[in-house]
Amino acid sequence: KPYAIGIDLGGTKIIAAIVDQNGCILSQANAPTQKEDEADAVILRIGDLVQSVLADSGVGLAQIRGIGIATAGIIDTHRHMVIFASNLNWSDVAIGDRLHERFGVPVQLINDANAAAVAEWAFGSASGTDDLIYVTVSTGVGAGIISGGRLITGIGDSAGEFGHISLDPEGPLCACGNRGCLENYVSGLALAKMAQEQLQSGTASSLRTCTTGELSRITAKEIGEQAQSGDALSIDLLRQAGYYLGVGLTNLIHLFNPQVIVFGGGVMNNGQILLEEAQRVIRQRCISRMASQATIQLSTMGAEAGVLGAAGMYFPAARKKVAV
Ligand code: BGC
Ligand code: NA
Ligand code: ZN
Repeated sequence: KPYAIGIDLGGTKIIAAIVDQNGCILSQANAPTQKEDEADAVILRIGDLVQSVLADSGVGLAQIRGIGIATAGIIDTHRHMVIFASNLNWSDVAIGDRLHERFGVPVQLINDANAAAVAEWAFGSASGTDDLIYVTVSTGVGAGIISGGRLITGIGDSAGEFGHISLDPEGPLCACGNRGCLENYVSGLALAKMAQEQLQSGTASSLRTCTTGELSRITAKEIGEQAQSGDALSIDLLRQAGYYLGVGLTNLIHLFNPQVIVFGGGVMNNGQILLEEAQRVIRQRCISRMASQATIQLSTMGAEAGVLGAAGMYFPAARKKVAV
């Protein structure tokens, strides 16, 4: 069977793709998600995306090895369940069984950032190293850590929850239940929330008009765009996020001594300011030998890293790396 289906289930978007063993995408489709959506409806939507990529590519289910789902959150890979995903508002969702019932092929789960790390390592520009960390700044913040040639999974396949490391034990309440997690300072959701608060308290900014005055529609995308055209508030917000990201990365570098850190996720599409500030913090705070050994780069795989890593679980080249 030459193909696998990869799904990337994030806090704002689902991507589905048919992938071959070289990491080439035959056809892909996407649909929006939001935290308010019922899990059942999201699973139906995923199934419909699968059906549509199959139809588009003319590939039949008989040629599919399985469906790999890269999902935000804590998963149970044995029971194919999402145990807890704060940005989806899911707990104990049997997504694997549901999709298996509908399509009759094997289904496997992997954390979204872990999947992207594996994809970067197997197919991407970071394939030359065995010590790489993939960091996604999207709706949430996550990481996939490859150290000494293996994906660090922990006992429950959930290692790499970078977005939930504590930066300030008394900081704002996080959707995970803790306070002051990195994700509350750096993610797309956090940026939007901070922008809205500033605007409500009267700060001048071109953000005010770019969503025709509807502040609740401001996202990290608008903040990135307005920063590029010189808006002081947007620049400030990204700098502040970059500062906290840099503090978090300093911790990651000290823990894992990576050779490459690859950045992906929607916020990084306009992430220049964020990244520059993070790099400044790293230069200032990191043990210099370790900082200089870590090359920081933007992903060249774009939004497809998650689906490639998810589908890659079914192909030997990538599987070798996941399952050692
Ligand atoms: C989740 C992670 C995920 C990250 C990016 C975080 O909120 O806890 O599992 O990797 O968002 O989607
Ligand atoms: Na992870
Ligand atoms: Zn948290």
